[in-house]
Amino acid sequence: MITPVLLCGGSGTRLWPLSRKSYPKQFAPIWGEDTLFQRSARRLSGPDFAAPLVITASDFRFIVAEQLQETGVEPGTILLEPEGRNTAPAILAAALLVSKTDPDGLMLVAPCDHAVSDTDAFRDAVRAGVPAAQAGQLVTFGITPDYPETGYGYLELAEDPDGSKPVALSRFIEKPDATRAAEMVAGGRHLWNGGIFLFRASDILAAYAESAPHLMDPVRAAVDDATPDLGFLRLAPEPWAKAEDISIDFAVMERSSNLSVVPLTHGWSDLGGWDAIWRESPQDGAGVATSGPATALDCENTLLRSESDQLELVGIGLKDIVAVAMPDAVLVAHASQAQSVKNAVAALKKKS
Ligand code: GDD
Ligand code: MG
Repeated sequence: MITPVLLCGGSGTRLWPLSRKSYPKQFAPIWGEDTLFQRSARRLSGPDFAAPLVITASDFRFIVAEQLQETGVEPGTILLEPEGRNTAPAILAAALLVSKTDPDGLMLVAPCDHAVSDTDAFRDAVRAGVPAAQAGQLVTFGITPDYPETGYGYLELAEDPDGSKPVALSRFIEKPDATRAAEMVAGGRHLWNGGIFLFRASDILAAYAESAPHLMDPVRAAVDDATPDLGFLRLAPEPWAKAEDISIDFAVMERSSNLSVVPLTHGWSDLGGWDAIWRESPQDGAGVATSGPATALDCENTLLRSESDQLELVGIGLKDIVAVAMPDAVLVAHASQAQSVKNAVAALKKKS
């Protein structure tokens, strides 16, 4: 059995105004009724999986509990962070917890703000990674890159891809600069890191001990002194605050050599901005995607979303525009600048 570790503590500012500090994108229904978190919990349930370990910010605990209950997925532990310290401490805390009951237990670490369109293919990829993980590898999931994204990690293949089998990596490069990213995409020997990891608790603990030993003491103390609180497990705030704020990609993956990758060929999207939501949404022949009470006349390559039944959104003659209307905020942006939404959020924060 594999223990899913669902990371859902991020703030997702690039999807403002749908994603808010108090209600980030993973808890919002992007398509249909289910939220991204609920889709992730369902995707990682079934015969291969144990009850999930969910790690989130204390502020989101009731959202997590309620949304899990709606999916019918029984949670294992819901671990609460007194403050966000990024993914390295969060995943280390999860590994320490899993190792208490099952030191060689397999963990599948997954973000909850992604779209994966083919659940069966995804589960097949996870199963394909199990033998490598059981042999001591830190298994990643790789996507064929189609443009030089600088916000992702890159996986350098040490051998030629072999169908859906895991292959060894020579290295992991997190968030390269634009020149390096362009070289890697052109070279054809790198895949994007999907941000999903499969390993045994004992192997990832050994990797932390080697690459990020300074995280061990504070995170272990936060786990050992964690307090149960109404069905949640609350990490001890004092030691937790001493853990460095760093991602697992920089702290561990870039420094490890026992890395493998399984190709993920079916419909992965990071949903990192409104441009990605537009690409993944059902579109008409002119590339127009609408949702809610929204109407597009003579538009092209445009996303119009109204998140309120009370709010009619109409676009006329628009090209390459994303418009998202919430009851209390409206975003209108050129699609090429969709990534700048996080700057707008920062500017608004300063104003308030
Ligand atoms: N619980 C918890 N606590 N979760 C967190 C925290 C935290 O402090 N920080 C981030 N997360 C969650 C986010 O909600 C997200 O689901 C996941 O961890 C990854 O964090 P991101 O901040 O979104 O990472 P990234 O997108 O910059 O980079 C990662 O994902 C890329 C693919 O989407 C890396 O793994 C890259 O290498 C990868 O390409
Ligand atoms: Mg991300």
